[in-house]
Amino acid sequence: MAPPQSIVHSDAMAAADHPAQPALEPPAEDAYRLLVDSVIDYAIFMLDPTGRVISWNAGAERIKGYSAEDIIGKHFSTFYPPEDLDARKPWYELEVAAEVGRFEDEGWRLRKDGSRFWANVIITALFEKSGRLRGFAKVTRDMTERMRAEEALRASEERFRLLVQGVIDYAIFMLDPTGRVISWNAGAERIKGYSAEEIVGEHFSTFYPPEDLVARKPWRELEVAAEVGRFEDEGWRLRKDGSRFWANVIITALTDAAGRLRGFAKVTRDMTEHRRVERTLTEQRRLVGHLVEAQELERRRIAWDVHDDSIQSMVAVGMRLQLLANRLPEQDAAVVRQLDEAVRASIGRLRNLVFRLRPPELDRHSLAQALDHYLTDLAGPRGMTYRLRHALDQEPPVESAITIFRICQEALVNVRKHARASAVEVSLTSVDGGTLVEVADNGIGVGAHVDTDAGVPADRPATDHFGMIEMRERAETAGGWWSVGRGPDGGTAVRFWIPDSPGGEP
Ligand SMILES: Nc1ncnc2c1ncn2[C@@H]1O[C@H](COP(=O)(O)OP(=O)(O)OP(=O)(O)O)[C@@H](O)[C@H]1O
Ligand SMILES: [Mg+2]
Repeated sequence: MAPPQSIVHSDAMAAADHPAQPALEPPAEDAYRLLVDSVIDYAIFMLDPTGRVISWNAGAERIKGYSAEDIIGKHFSTFYPPEDLDARKPWYELEVAAEVGRFEDEGWRLRKDGSRFWANVIITALFEKSGRLRGFAKVTRDMTERMRAEEALRASEERFRLLVQGVIDYAIFMLDPTGRVISWNAGAERIKGYSAEEIVGEHFSTFYPPEDLVARKPWRELEVAAEVGRFEDEGWRLRKDGSRFWANVIITALTDAAGRLRGFAKVTRDMTEHRRVERTLTEQRRLVGHLVEAQELERRRIAWDVHDDSIQSMVAVGMRLQLLANRLPEQDAAVVRQLDEAVRASIGRLRNLVFRLRPPELDRHSLAQALDHYLTDLAGPRGMTYRLRHALDQEPPVESAITIFRICQEALVNVRKHARASAVEVSLTSVDGGTLVEVADNGIGVGAHVDTDAGVPADRPATDHFGMIEMRERAETAGGWWSVGRGPDGGTAVRFWIPDSPGGEP
């Protein structure tokens, strides 16, 4: 703020008597007057020794609302709110200024219209050379905006502080540049078990297990954060009671405007439960994987047994029956031929069973052929048109092919059982190191009665329907994904992706 003393000083009052000054001399008295008069950011005016206004500038008019005619001759206490008048503040201020030369204050003042503004006020006593009090210069600045801004900032900081303190899911606290705790929130207390009184002032290495201390991990973390601005880590930390929790930790360096390190903000999240759930899930997937694998092995063994043993024996029985029929008289031969027919029909059904247990095409590395075979069996007899499109760069490995086949099998059974469709299309595409599959029908659609997110019907207990759950389980166990939604022709579309190598990422 411009020091008012340099603009208005005691000599100024008598300056009108001075002769005109040559160029480069200090500006003439009327130049000062012009300057003061035209300043609009500050109210600059003079009071006589009793406090009556004797001059008034543009800034005073703007800030206080009075014109010079309105106010000259009036006592400056007009500008003070009633409570200040009761306390005789205006007179007290002049007394102090007269005694020590100057008085500075911040407070509420009144405008002409009665509204208040927050003023910064400096009153300077003006003395004649003889030492007699001539009056006072008063410079007032309207600080309302700034005060409001500061107050808003304070309020927002306060709100933010309360917010941080109230958060209980995250430990949020600050460290000084050496790593000592300087603030602590409710989440920190909940997660780590220390109250603020117990921990503020302690070094944050307290939270690290001995093996990390030996490796000087806490200090290294601060070094990295100070250097690159941020450090993130997951690992074991200690609670007050010595128990361990699995923490996700982010340390952020806090620097001031000049770039100096002021400390660190540390946000810690307790991930113990999350980690446990994740591990359980991984373990479950592993078990499901084993089960599915064992089931497939068993199916293949049964399929081969039925094929190599039961079917072969029945084929042999059939041939004998034919030979027998040829040798018997006609009336007996008809009965034997009927027996032969029955045997053939059984062989057909057994072949079908073998196929469903383990399509032999899969072991001959042709997923497309296996699916084509299956589609023919399923759609053909029902007059449903079907199409198989495949754009495979290479044949998926046999484990992936089996998974794909099994999911298609369930999706297609669903089409047959539920869709009331006249057409179905299966497409296979090589994408991202895996196979993307879509089974789409033009039937009634699954959306109406199925919560597609969970993959189970919304209106029936999920426990009755395992198809969707099983499809998803199989896909996820194989490291892929599965979804069901609306198809391009309005029916249902089951889409899934199976990586070529289990555990592969899309
Ligand atoms: N292609 C489809 N078109 C129309 N509705 C379908 C289709 N596929 C599934 N649905 C609906 O979704 C439900 C759930 O399917 P899901 O395969 O889980 O069970 P399900 O076929 O009824 O029984 P499960 O498969 O256990 O023998 C079905 O009951 C059916 O209402
Ligand atoms: Mg089903």
